[in-house]
Amino acid sequence: MKKDIRNMVEKSQKHCEEIGLSRDMVFSRKIIDGSELKDELDKSRDLVLAAIPFIDQLYKFVKGSDFFIILTDANGCILNIVGDEKILNDAFSFKMIPGAYMDDDNIGTNAMGIVINECIPVQILGDDHFINAYHKWTCSAAPIMDPGGKLIGVINLTGYTQGVHPHTLGMVVAAAFSIEHIIAEGAVRKKRKMHEHIKECRAVYNFDKIVSEDSKFLDTVEYAKKISRSKSTILITGETGTGKEVFVQSIHNYSDRANMPFVAVNCGAMPANLIESELFGYEEGAFTGAKKGGSEGKFQSADGGTIFLDEIGEMPIDMQVRLLRVIEEGVVTRIGGIKPIPVDVRIIAATNKELLEAVGSGKFRKDLFYRLNVLPIYLLPLRERRGDIMLLIDYYMNKISRKLGKNKVIFDETEMTKLTNYSWPGNIRELQNVVELVINTGELPAEIAGVKADVQYAAKKAKEEKIYNLHAMEKEYITKALEECGYNISKTAKTLGVARNTLYKKIKDFSIKCP
Ligand SMILES: Nc1ncnc2c1ncn2[C@@H]1O[C@H](COP(=O)(O)OP(=O)(O)OP(=O)(O)O)[C@@H](O)[C@H]1O
Ligand SMILES: [Mg+2]
Repeated sequence: MKKDIRNMVEKSQKHCEEIGLSRDMVFSRKIIDGSELKDELDKSRDLVLAAIPFIDQLYKFVKGSDFFIILTDANGCILNIVGDEKILNDAFSFKMIPGAYMDDDNIGTNAMGIVINECIPVQILGDDHFINAYHKWTCSAAPIMDPGGKLIGVINLTGYTQGVHPHTLGMVVAAAFSIEHIIAEGAVRKKRKMHEHIKECRAVYNFDKIVSEDSKFLDTVEYAKKISRSKSTILITGETGTGKEVFVQSIHNYSDRANMPFVAVNCGAMPANLIESELFGYEEGAFTGAKKGGSEGKFQSADGGTIFLDEIGEMPIDMQVRLLRVIEEGVVTRIGGIKPIPVDVRIIAATNKELLEAVGSGKFRKDLFYRLNVLPIYLLPLRERRGDIMLLIDYYMNKISRKLGKNKVIFDETEMTKLTNYSWPGNIRELQNVVELVINTGELPAEIAGVKADVQYAAKKAKEEKIYNLHAMEKEYITKALEECGYNISKTAKTLGVARNTLYKKIKDFSIKCP
């Protein structure tokens, strides 16, 4: 750690001692909720919305490696928190939730607190944290400034200490820069009195960019093309990185709505309190911080086109009721408004969760599930279409090496087998990352290089073990029968229900010793 950062950590630790914080505390001293939290979220609305795509992008990089991302305001109040389920549950058990304050006065020395004090990016390791409960974590945080140079928020990435990497801080800093850029653009736009709606998303993918030679997968592509022109709701399911977003965009571009808006909403990356106003819009004066003239929601922005509700499983239950009404009646009502506004929108939803399970546990409305699942599409994971693995590797090897201006890497047969046999839990996204890594380093990553525990090997091994066990059982059974029959071959064969010749053969094969 650099000396000046060391000094900042020590300064903060000393401050925490002076104000009498206990190292044994676990929860922030200040946690707000309800209308108080809603007010803070409304005050930071521009920041929260500008940050969503970058939090989402950052999360895609670290997905599956036990990290979570926090966005706070300039006072350390958590506005949004997104991450892997396991570590997020861990964070929630420490009440790291929207409304909890992460400044060092309230929770002791940590990366976010230091950013608030010093306005520079920092990475804090294990016991640099003041409270003992945070010693297992490493946090990388960066300031987000407004165009006037005033701190407006902090973006932070936390993971377990063993997962730390210096590059993590670089990623966080890049995200902070991008958020600042969007906010600055918004400010310029406001000054020019331009239309306030920023089109967040364009549909860039087409079916012809989809790479596959797998007959089942190609059937899915054909089916998706066929249903593109229908107005019925589509629900796309599949593991992370299987191409759900690619399909949604391709469907839009293949449909007769291709020249109309395509609006994407990530229900998982948006704080629950903001989903309602984002989707349905609000009237002027609907809440503190509501814009003059009100604001149209995403449904209205998507009028005539397609709305993509990503991570639909994360939609809060009360919003599900409102969504159902839009689907059934084709109208939206803004918050604070009474007039229903008709909208003509094609809804495509996606999730990598088991929605039916969520229905079972009461987290997802059954009626909404059936309304969404009119035209279901399931995308196969890569390990169930192994024939596509080398095809996709070739495709991305060409594309990425050209982009980076580097040489392609040619794999030998063993490497190709390892790549084909690997389980690819992150699917095509993981495959792209692996190809990029190989181009840069010339080596397969450890989890693939050491493919002993790969699926085929494991399956073969399991099969061998099963056979071995079966043989062992058979040997034991025959030995017992022989003992009981006093090693009389005819009697034993009769007891076992086999011919004498068969029994002789088994005795020989299993090397059973007869007196
Ligand atoms: N069939 C395909 N051919 C080539 N590239 C693909 C294909 N499907 C997906 N990709 C690429 O894989 C990456 C992941 O795809 P996408 O973002 O659509 O996945 P996803 O299912 O939405 O994942 P998540 O659930 O994590 O959001 C993208 O970069 C995309 O370009
Ligand atoms: Mg996606």
